Order: sequence, then C-alpha cells, then structure tokens
Amino acid sequence: MRDALGEVQSVLVLGGGSDIGRALCTRLARGRCRTVVLAGRPEDGMEAVAEAVRSAGATTVEIVHWEATDPQGHDRVVDDVFDRFGDIDLVYVPAGILGSQEAFDADPAFAATAVDINLGGVVAVCLAVARRLRAQGHGSIVLMSSVAGVRARKDNYVYGATKAGLDAFGQGLGDALVGSGVRVMVVRPGFVHTKMTEGMDAAPFSTTPDKVASLIVDGLATGKEIVWAPPVLRFPFAVFRLLPRALWRRVAERG
Ligand SMILES: NC(=O)c1ccc[n+]([C@@H]2O[C@H](COP(=O)([O-])OP(=O)(O)OC[C@H]3O[C@@H](n4cnc5c(N)ncnc54)[C@H](OP(=O)(O)O)[C@@H]3O)[C@@H](O)[C@H]2O)c1
Repeated sequence: MRDALGEVQSVLVLGGGSDIGRALCTRLARGRCRTVVLAGRPEDGMEAVAEAVRSAGATTVEIVHWEATDPQGHDRVVDDVFDRFGDIDLVYVPAGILGSQEAFDADPAFAATAVDINLGGVVAVCLAVARRLRAQGHGSIVLMSSVAGVRARKDNYVYGATKAGLDAFGQGLGDALVGSGVRVMVVRPGFVHTKMTEGMDAAPFSTTPDKVASLIVDGLATGKEIVWAPPVLRFPFAVFRLLPRALWRRVAERG
C-alpha cells in the first residue's frame, strides 16, 4: 500500500534486468520502496539490479523466473508474487526486444518472436496483473510503449507495430480499470541510452534511464496516463502523426 505521502513501497518488475527498470527501482528504493521483486529470464542481468536496489535501501529483494513467451507462466508467476509479498503498489513492465528490421526481414520467425514478447507476452501478463490489482483495490501498471509505435517507420516497423499494439492495449486497460483504484500509465520514450540501443546512433532528444525513471515517478505522483520521454517529443509527434504518408516517408528517411 502506498504510504501517507503516496510513495510506492513495493514494486514488481516484469523484465527485471531492464536498464530503465534498474534506474526506476533504484530511485524508488532511495525513497520509501522496501520490496522489489524482479521477474525475468535466467540469463537476465537481474543480480546486478538486485544489488543496486539493495544498496539504495530496499530490504526485501527477490528474483523470480518469468519468460514472456511462456503462455502458462503468467498467472503462475503473478499469483505467486502477490500471494507471497502481499500488496504490490507498482507493476513496471519493461520486457521487450528491439531487433533490427534487417534481422526480421531475413528471419520472419524472429519477427513473430518479437511480437510474442513485446505484445503477446506483455498483454497476457498485464491481464493477470490487472486481475490481482483489481482485487487489491489499488496499484499502478506502467507499460513501455515507444515513439516508434506512434508512427511506423520503414526501418523499424515490426518493432513499431508491437509498440503501437501495446500502446492501444495500455490505454484500453486503463479505461477498463477506471473506478477500480488501479491506474495504467503508458510511457512513450524516444531514444534512451541503454543496452538495448548500445552501438546505435542516438536519435534527436535522446535521454537516459535516470531521466525516464524520474518522469515515471513524477507521472505516478501526478496521476498521468501518458508520459513522453522526454516530454518535448509530444510536439513533433503530434505533427508527425498527421503528415501525409509521402511526406512522412521523407521525414523518416532523414532520421
Ligand atoms: N532504450 C530505448 O531507447 C527505448 C525506447 C523506447 C521504448 N523502450 C522500451 O522500454 C522497455 C525497457 O527498455 P530498456 O532500454 O530498459 O531495455 P533493456 O535494458 O534491454 O530491458 C529489456 C528487458 O526485457 C527483458 N526481456 C526480453 N525478452 C524477454 C522475455 N522473452 N521474457 C522476459 N523478459 C524479457 C530483457 O531480458 P534479457 O536481458 O534476458 O534479454 C531485459 O531485461 C522496452 O520495452 C523497450 O522496448 C526502450
């Protein structure tokens, strides 16, 4: 249960090795958050995240196995965490892969896997989470969309399609949960310097995991439903989404 100041005291991260997740949990643990459950794949760098959040002040830190593409695993993992740790104030869902359009073109099965992780897995686990949060009567879900989902580009449209779907799902879920005490926030980052984007040329208005984490914490405190990271991106994308296709193709080509 959030404390009297509205601060998060417990968090479940689905995609526990995420760099943005690490920044968010560290920031929360420096405040009042004492329970952090990291759920992810065994090969995930979750031990390092666990160590960082312990150093920041979290006292109960646990790693659990969760694979986004395992359809049987979602209910089991979510129920286990809620049964063992009690109220969870925040469920942060960063699980995802980027992949390159070239790799998807060369191996369509890989594109299906990306859709399975970024959209299918996240949708299924969020429905399991929503059921528990609804019963709890409070809590927040934070989903990671992307500006890539706001307007598809020819150089990453498979990834963009997964994020467009996730963005729509997050908005619909948020609307469905109105009145339940549960909130959903959809985050739309541009380029964030993390292991996901390592070696890539930074896009305009690139940002850091710490800055995204700070925007998420502010968004939770103020009840935001959509958070752009950085906030300035809402303006170019308000224009981009209205551009005629031929003009958008030229803008997108310039990167
Ligand atoms: N970085 C950016 O520029 C950017 C921009 C817009 C949106 N986003 C979105 O923000 C979210 C977090 O990004 P990030 O930069 O923090 O990326 P990250 O550090 O690569 O974190 C992504 C996490 O998802 C996990 N994951 C991948 N496939 C999984 C699966 N099948 N089952 C369970 N976990 C799985 C990864 O685990 P493994 O280490 O085991 O692969 C990793 O811990 C992502 O959804 C991303 O699409 C990022």
